This record gives sequence, C-alpha cells and structure tokens, in this order.
Amino acid sequence: MTTAFPRYARILGTGSYLPPHRVTNAELAERLARDGIETSHEWIVERTGIHARHFAAPDVTASDLALPAAQAALEAAGVAAQDIDLIIVATSTPDMVFPSVACLLQNKLGIHGCAAFDVQAVCSGFVYALTVADSMIKSGAATKALVIGAEVFSRILDFKDRTTCVLFGDGAGAVVLGASETPGILASELHADGRHVDILCTPGTVSGGQVLGQPLLKMDGQAVFKLAVGVLEKVARAVLDKAGRTDADIDWLIPHQANIRIMQGTAKKLKMSTDKLIVTVDEHGNTSAASIPLALDVAVRGGKIQRGDTVMLEGVGGGFTWGAVLLDF
Ligand code: ACO
Repeated sequence: MTTAFPRYARILGTGSYLPPHRVTNAELAERLARDGIETSHEWIVERTGIHARHFAAPDVTASDLALPAAQAALEAAGVAAQDIDLIIVATSTPDMVFPSVACLLQNKLGIHGCAAFDVQAVCSGFVYALTVADSMIKSGAATKALVIGAEVFSRILDFKDRTTCVLFGDGAGAVVLGASETPGILASELHADGRHVDILCTPGTVSGGQVLGQPLLKMDGQAVFKLAVGVLEKVARAVLDKAGRTDADIDWLIPHQANIRIMQGTAKKLKMSTDKLIVTVDEHGNTSAASIPLALDVAVRGGKIQRGDTVMLEGVGGGFTWGAVLLDF
C-alpha cells in the first residue's frame, strides 16, 4: 500500500437499494385505521413532505439491503469486491446484537480478511462512517473502502403511534471511497450532545435472553425539529470554513432526509436555491443512516450530480448527533 502524500479520499462510485414493497400514505393510513388510529395523506405531506416509503419483508435484514447497494457501488466504481480493504456500515437496526452488519456483509460479498465494523450514530451515521473512512484512507490504514448506510427502521416503529410511524422507511445506500492524489473529501465535522438522549431513542436492551425496556422508537418531534434546524446551519458553515469555501461554492446540498421543512429551512439559511437541494424524502421517507447515500445515488444516477460538483452532506439524529462532509464529487 502506498502512503504517498498528499493523500485524499474520493468517491469512486455510488449504489443504493430499496426493498420492493412501496407503501403509500393512503395504504399506511388504512393500516392504522384498522387499529382506530387516524391519519391522512394530506397531514403527512403537509407536515413532512413524505408521499411513500418502502418496507422490507419480515425476513429481510439490514445486511440483505446493504448487499445490492454495495454491489451497485462497486460496479459503478469499477472496483472488484476483493480489492476492498475496509467496510464500515452505519446502522441502528443491525441484523443481530453481534456480529456487526459489516462482518455479515463482508461474508455475503464473498471477501474475507479486511477490517469491517459498524458505526452507530442513528441518522448521522453515514456522515460519521464517511468521516472515519476518510481518516483511515488519508492515514494509509485503508485504500479502498465500502461505506454504507443500511436500515430496517420498520422493525422498530410503533404502529400505534401516528406521530412517528408515518415518518420512517427502509433502504440502503453505499459508496466506494478510494485513495486519491486529488480531493475528494474536503472537510468534515462531527458532533454529539448526549444531554438530548430522551428526545429521540429506542430505549430497549437485551438481558438474560429477553428484551427489556421499550424496543420501539420514541420521539419528541418538535424538540428534534428545533435542534436540527439550529445545528444544520452551524455545522455546514464550520465545514465550509475548514475547507476555505463559501455557500456559493456548494453545487448540491444533501441533508438527512427527515422532513422537507427542515431541509428547505437549512437551504434557505445557507442562501441556496431549493433547486440545489436533493430531495428523496418524498419517496423514501426517513431511512435514518441510509438516507444520505440513497439520496446521493439517486442524484448521481439521475444525472444531477456530475463529476467535479461540490456536494455538502449533512446528518442529524438521535444521540443527539450531527455532522457534515463537504466533498468534490
Ligand atoms: N396524522 C394526523 N395527525 C397527527 C399525526 C399524524 N400522523 N401525528 C400527529 N398528529 C397530530 C397531533 O396529535 C397534534 O394534534 P393536536 O393538535 O390535536 O394535539 C397535531 O397533529 C400537531 O402535532 P405536532 O406534533 O405539533 O405536529 P408537528 O407540526 O410538530 O409535526 C412532526 C410533527 C412532523 C414529527 C414534526 O415535529 C417534525 O418534523 N419534527 C422533526 C423530527 C423529525 O423529522 N424526525 C425524524 C427523525 S429524527 C431525525 O431524523 C433527525
């Protein structure tokens, strides 16, 4: 492995995968109505921008979704699975307590021996994972990395709580990150504030062979909304400063796809036209750690994001965690 400097990390290819079962707001409303819970397409669209989400079949796991996403990214990058020397999966809905989704995926890819581990930073997970992989590539510890966000959030949704179950979906997005003499990833920032654990959590645990506590997602939506809007502008500005760039240099903004109102608010604060905002929340819902790489892949394959474009990725989620990565694609 060469460690010639300067050494940067660059996205060589992207991929994504959505489970085939698409659930519209109307179908979800019908399902909830069977339990006497009222919601509507109009309410969901007005408050969140979500029209549909995808739910995985009961026997499909995060590593099952990660595999086709990873394969698509490898193909787009023109990289063989055997050449990958690092796998990082961002997930909060792993297949099992352990081993990690990254190890399960490594085996499904038919490769063995490279470093593989999961990162758990909820909806900021992909930005965390990308930053870790960037550091490992820059240091020479890795040369070609698969960085993936994969989630089956439908497993932890409380379908008796209309304030949360309408928001989330399942899916996976992946990038192949490779060592390069030109950047690549320009700058990144990661943050967390554990004082806000209670506003977004799934407070269950496994003990003595049983699940203790409440293994379903709980959220104080308004508290999350307020925190998210504040930190997303701040962290974007910090990353731009670090990279010596300005708002005007951003060609595309890909915030975590949680809620169209938060995303549009962030674009406005960065003085960006909403034309530069990549939006997939309408069709994917909030897929937590998978949302940013899914949106990136959709924008790349749809011809919006081109080689050389400057892209800002921004994550925010439970923890409370947040972060941003600025990159030249
Ligand atoms: N259908 C119909 N009515 C509903 C639904 C629903 N699905 N959910 C809540 N309501 C009702 C409430 O009961 C309330 O009724 P009331 O006035 O009679 O009490 C009313 O709608 C307003 O409820 P609020 O919670 O005040 O609605 P709000 O405008 O805050 O929207 C939402 C809720 C969409 C969750 C919003 O707070 C939000 O977007 N928060 C950001 C959090 C987020 O996006 N989280 C995603 C995960 S976190 C992350 O990824 C960062």
